[in-house]
Amino acid sequence: MTSTDVRPATAAGLQFPTGFVFGAATAAYQIEGAVDVDGRGPSIWDTFSHTPGKTFAGHTGDVAVEHYTRYPEDVALMGELGLSAYRFSVAWSRVLPEGAGRIEQRGLDFYRRLVDELLSAGIDPWLTLYHWDLPQALQDRGGWTDRDTAARFADYAAVVHGALGDRVAHWSTLNEPMCSALLGHMAGQHAPGHRDPVEASRATHHLLLGHGLATRVLRDAGADHLGITLNFTPMSPATGSPADVDAARRLDGQQNRMFLVPIVTGEYPADVVRDLAAAGAPLPVEDGDLDVISTPVDWLGVNYYFRSTVRAVAEPTGKATAFIGAERIDDIDPAGPTTTMGWGISPEGFTDLMLRLRDLAPGLPLFITENGSAWPDEVGDDGAVHDPERTDYLLRHLAAMTTAIEQGADVRGYFAWSLLDNYEWARGYAQRFGLVHVDYGTQRRTPKDSARAYADVIRRHRGSV
Ligand code: FCB
Repeated sequence: MTSTDVRPATAAGLQFPTGFVFGAATAAYQIEGAVDVDGRGPSIWDTFSHTPGKTFAGHTGDVAVEHYTRYPEDVALMGELGLSAYRFSVAWSRVLPEGAGRIEQRGLDFYRRLVDELLSAGIDPWLTLYHWDLPQALQDRGGWTDRDTAARFADYAAVVHGALGDRVAHWSTLNEPMCSALLGHMAGQHAPGHRDPVEASRATHHLLLGHGLATRVLRDAGADHLGITLNFTPMSPATGSPADVDAARRLDGQQNRMFLVPIVTGEYPADVVRDLAAAGAPLPVEDGDLDVISTPVDWLGVNYYFRSTVRAVAEPTGKATAFIGAERIDDIDPAGPTTTMGWGISPEGFTDLMLRLRDLAPGLPLFITENGSAWPDEVGDDGAVHDPERTDYLLRHLAAMTTAIEQGADVRGYFAWSLLDNYEWARGYAQRFGLVHVDYGTQRRTPKDSARAYADVIRRHRGSV
């Protein structure tokens, strides 16, 4: 069988290894709301989303899906789906409203209540420390462009572990540092909304340094299931021309290798170092940093949504690009159907990615920490949400994952993005990724057909049907 064989989209034939983890994922700012409750300090996403013109129709996470108060209902929904794990993030500015120094006990208490609710439902909490919501007070001092933020992140990790380390076994430092660094500081599409290659390069290195410092702190505190979540987009050249091949290499470098390779090997990829230096944005590496960054982790979190085809063009595209020195590189529109995000659908790309990671990060167990799709869901007259496209995407990607496992990829779990419809960052509430529909007027939750399909996969795996 080749990696491009993908089985038909039914739950029946899917086989997963014993002990495989089935979960769903969310992130604090996307679901919690309650932004000015219990002493929470502002984050860069509060600032960004409240800046006119930055988000779809000016949407903010002020209310989101009110998970801060509705978490018992949400945990009950997870139980109904049969999830064995739930991946969520902690809002740094709930715990340390100024980013450093004063601890807000009420913020920690919220996460303790959530974790206890999960544990009593038999669901394993998987905690991510940072899903993009830097305390604004740290941004005011330079944010991730300032080396000191890495040390503050490690201090924050210690505080959260001190409060929850007795009951949370699975820890992740960062979610998608590529997005924090490059969408936030190069493309300007995410908070803090800057467009500066030097800032983007500095943020990249300091995020990785923060990851390494926090990993050491957590390890010393006794954590023994520690990871980081990276987002991968396979990059293919549009043609075999040297210019297109080099365009794909450059984007693959910054998207897929720049964050993973230093963690695994203790060195940045040489071609990426050259590209960034040539663009006047060298990585600000100091002695010993790469030892810190390559502090061993126990698992790698993999987020995958789509693949990309790119080509070199003669003139700058004029588009906001997330990549440094990539003004003359363009994306080719995906072939075939796209989700409402405009993203193509490629389960084959998912299989290929897992097989590539088996080679790039040998020996590191993989957990798919996000995968999912957005569609224009509505509650029908029958009170249900029929989302055949999401179900198809889900089952085909699960099948693609089992293909990779059969070919030797050590994948041990899958977290659907997302449990609930939520605040999709700059795209606001217009993009629905949830297995569970949320009516934003009433906050009513309705499991979609895809949620039932996922529950069926999980039940079959447990041998109970
Ligand atoms: C990922 C993010 C997640 C969500 C999905 C659609 O990049 O980690 O919060 O927005 O995309």
